[in-house]
Amino acid sequence: MDSFLIEGGTTLRGEVQISGSKNAVLPIMAATLLTAETCVIRHVPDLSDVRFMCQILTSLGAEVEFDGSTLKVRAANITGTGDYDLIRKMRGSICILGPLLARLRKATVSLPGGCVIGTRPIDLHLKGLRTLGTQIRIEAGYVHAEAPDLSGSLVFLGGRAGPTVLGTANILMAATLAEGVTVIESAACEPEVVDLADFLNAMGARIQGAGSPTITVTGVRELRGVEHEVIPDRIEAGTFAVAAAASGGEVTLRGARPDHLGAVLDKLQEAGVRITRRAGALTIGAASNLKPVDITTMPYSGFPTDMQAQLMALMCQAPGTSIITERIFESRFMHAAELMRLGADIGIEGPSAIVKGGAPLSGAEVMASDLRASAALVIAGMAASGTTQVHRVYHLDRGYERMEVKLEALGARIQRVPGE
Ligand code: EPU
Repeated sequence: MDSFLIEGGTTLRGEVQISGSKNAVLPIMAATLLTAETCVIRHVPDLSDVRFMCQILTSLGAEVEFDGSTLKVRAANITGTGDYDLIRKMRGSICILGPLLARLRKATVSLPGGCVIGTRPIDLHLKGLRTLGTQIRIEAGYVHAEAPDLSGSLVFLGGRAGPTVLGTANILMAATLAEGVTVIESAACEPEVVDLADFLNAMGARIQGAGSPTITVTGVRELRGVEHEVIPDRIEAGTFAVAAAASGGEVTLRGARPDHLGAVLDKLQEAGVRITRRAGALTIGAASNLKPVDITTMPYSGFPTDMQAQLMALMCQAPGTSIITERIFESRFMHAAELMRLGADIGIEGPSAIVKGGAPLSGAEVMASDLRASAALVIAGMAASGTTQVHRVYHLDRGYERMEVKLEALGARIQRVPGE
């Protein structure tokens, strides 16, 4: 397993190009299963999760070509049974269920497991599909779903922690080819859901209201192949923004969408970070006097859970106390113990982390536990004095395109150490 070796104490300066969004492209890739015609997707990030999804589509019978940025999928002849091991390994792959059901009226996919950030149930996905007339049986780790008469209905998708992003994607995709009208209430409002709806509408679907809590889908008979460009990755942009602020430098994020980053930019500004918005770019400059801020993660347009770990790394440097409360996933604080290895002072009390910032960080060996936790450790490692080794960076490769290459171009001293 590769690791990153980081010499800390560098200041990031320059420009970085933001890649296409991982969490937008994964459901869009699943949506290509809705048509027998060729779909062309551009601005696709070259990530291990994307390559993994390519394998899943291939295992279902689709023809897939990916050159590292443009993806072509032709799902002319597909089967409704996904490879157990492939699907089980990547949670995001659950979003093939909706399109398979819509196209074939029958699907069998493995139940995705929990992961280090929480149990991650799919009860809301299944409830929504049942409401559309799907018979669902869970047996030996598989979801067997059948919907000879898939039909529109009123689907309420609110759960314990609010709406579900991939659940909304699944129901949206299933509803495109269902008979009649589906109204999704308490739908996720994330920009990734809007990008999926734009893709589906270009294919000929009739979807209104994406980006709001009520989405209406009028079923159509069939969908066609389209070309589409994926939105920029707001979490990658936010991660580089925090990295720039933590290093005390100045970085311009090319291609970032400030309108997708409202809550993150607001918190950075409150912390004293300088932000300049210009068409097509966003510049993040160091705070002259970094201040602690309190954060509570929420569904969009609130502060994203996928930026919580990175903000915690930044708050370790702000003199004073910040309280970071995680409301989306029950155990997304694995990075706290690793940040403490670098000298951070963090206490966990229920869903909140109490960060007493300002003590200098010093390099250590740390272990990445999930994608965003890994990003937080890289940010902290760059800000710490001395050498930090971040183990298990395969987590980072799932969701950040060539992160070490982009950081090195900004002046970081970071290198990938192949397999240990
Ligand atoms: N939930 C349920 N039942 C369900 C589905 C979700 O109780 O059927 C709960 C979850 O346990 C959680 C909350 O609802 O407490 C929200 O989960 P959601 O379903 O929205 O998460 P997701 O769709 O599985 C996507 C992203 C995650 C991101 C979350 C929240 C993808 C591939 N994944 O997951 O991204 O954290 O939305 O914004 O889109 C990441 O990129 O690092 C990542 C984990």
